[in-house]
Amino acid sequence: MSNQKVFNDYLSKQADVRSLSEALVIDSSGRVLARSRFSQSLEFELVPAKILQQASGGAVSVIMTADDNRVRAVVRLSSFADAYLLVGRFVDPKILDHIEKTRGAVAKYQNLEKKQGSIQITFVMVYGLVAMMLLMVATWIGMTLAERMSRPISSLISASERVRGGDLSVRVDETDGTDEIGNLGRSFNRMTAQLQSQQQVLVEANRMLDERRRFTETVLTGVSAGVIGLDSEGRIHLPNRSASDLLGRDLDGASTRKLADVVPEMGDLLQRVMGRPDRAQQDEIQITRDGKFHTLHVSIAAEKLEGDILGYVVTFDDVTDLLTAQRTAAWADVARRIAHEIKNPLTPIQLSAERLKRKFLGMIEDDAEIFSALTDTIVRQVEDIGRMVDEFSSFARMPLATLKNENLGDICQQSVMLERNRQPAIDYQLMVPDDAMMARCDRRQIGQALTNLLKNAAESIIERGARSTAKQDGKICCTVAMETDRDGELRVAVIVEDNGKGLPQEARNRLMEPYVTTRNGGTGLGLAIVRKIMEDHNGELTLEDRAQGGVRARLTFPAGLDAGQDQLVVGGIAHGA
Ligand SMILES: Nc1ncnc2c1ncn2[C@@H]1O[C@H](COP(=O)(O)OP(=O)(O)OP(=O)(O)O)[C@@H](O)[C@H]1O
Ligand SMILES: [Mg+2]
Repeated sequence: MSNQKVFNDYLSKQADVRSLSEALVIDSSGRVLARSRFSQSLEFELVPAKILQQASGGAVSVIMTADDNRVRAVVRLSSFADAYLLVGRFVDPKILDHIEKTRGAVAKYQNLEKKQGSIQITFVMVYGLVAMMLLMVATWIGMTLAERMSRPISSLISASERVRGGDLSVRVDETDGTDEIGNLGRSFNRMTAQLQSQQQVLVEANRMLDERRRFTETVLTGVSAGVIGLDSEGRIHLPNRSASDLLGRDLDGASTRKLADVVPEMGDLLQRVMGRPDRAQQDEIQITRDGKFHTLHVSIAAEKLEGDILGYVVTFDDVTDLLTAQRTAAWADVARRIAHEIKNPLTPIQLSAERLKRKFLGMIEDDAEIFSALTDTIVRQVEDIGRMVDEFSSFARMPLATLKNENLGDICQQSVMLERNRQPAIDYQLMVPDDAMMARCDRRQIGQALTNLLKNAAESIIERGARSTAKQDGKICCTVAMETDRDGELRVAVIVEDNGKGLPQEARNRLMEPYVTTRNGGTGLGLAIVRKIMEDHNGELTLEDRAQGGVRARLTFPAGLDAGQDQLVVGGIAHGA
């Protein structure tokens, strides 16, 4: 008993020292083995078997009650076989409350910790979603911004492509912004506007140049003068049509060949201009075209630009007819004056000679015959002079031709008949087709022309005969034929061929000019008159050597109208009859 008490006291003391409200030693059946003071209240409260079981494992088991503010703990006393120490203490309810809350929080925490995985997944998903949305928004913003920046650039690129394709009217949208892209667009538009206006100016200038070029080309084609453009080396590069026609050579085909090679007659003149390019040179040159001599008045000038010679321009014209006309006019004038001056004293001379003969023939006793012959000679010579002067005058004042439809065959026949009588030694042949060879002509003048040609032919045969001892065997053939000229027009030709001495070498190209003769007694007017007559008939006279010796003189006329369609043509100008 005393031990029980000592044990109880010891417990009480320990409980006091440790500020415990109670301390008990119990066994597993809940029997109290010892107790501290004031532990009576616990007497009826059994310790739950579960707690004891926990404690029996050696752990400290805490007993919490919800209705009072006590905390009790049970621990197995290992030095005893079956003894447990139960201690209890009153605590501040707040602390208990806190403990309770802490416990709740712990429970919650543990609960949450359990759920942590799913929450993390949720968070990751939410994060991913948000991140994706942000990425999309960022991408959209980026693309919008990029598009805003690239749109003007791409429109600039497509506009440049169109400019490259030649469309200078293209413009890009000008933004109001002052950024570089806006500036770029504005400068691009300024540039294309400037290019467009410059292009328009150039196109206009080009059009005008083209117009002028075409005008110049038309003028060059239209002018009767020959024009040849040469390069600085003297090579042909721009001839007009008249140039080829006048020279009778194909200059278009001779392009890039040297002028001096194609037209050697112009070589000297070109050389002179090349030697002194500051002065244009002019000269008259002789060329042969279609077997006839022609005189060309040539002028060559250097084309210069700032002292450099770009090339040469050759211009020329056929002045053969002009020169002939000038000479003819001059001779006609001289002839008229001389005729006038000579004719005046002729009549008094003739009358005086006749009066001398009449008055003094009876008074002369000696040599009356001589006196008579001398005065006759004076009279005859004066008559001859008079005739010559008349011829002078007739050449100077050739009457105008009266053109009618005439049969050339008839005219030729008459002329040949007259000549045959005059020169019976010569064999005259006349070849006229059966059809009427109608031509518009003046019968009297053509007769005169034919007589001149036949006379020349006969004289040439006689001259050949005088030179050689061989048999004369003179033959003159007069042919009338229809032929077509180069332009395809129908013409009538009268051809007089002889086997005489042939054309003289000297003055060969001037035989048709007045007063050009190789015969002692000749006036040189015969062929000049023939040519004048042919000009009035809109026809032509040509002379050429025959291959077998002698000369072929040819008169060509425009073909006449059929009988009944008569026309009166004066001086080559037609007047309705
Ligand atoms: N058929 C011919 N054969 C050779 N020479 C000719 C012939 N016809 C003309 N001629 C040459 O042409 C020159 C000029 O001839 P043209 O008829 O004009 O004068 P002409 O005969 O000398 O003088 P005219 O006719 O006044 O008597 C002649 O002097 C002659 O040299
Ligand atoms: Mg003659």
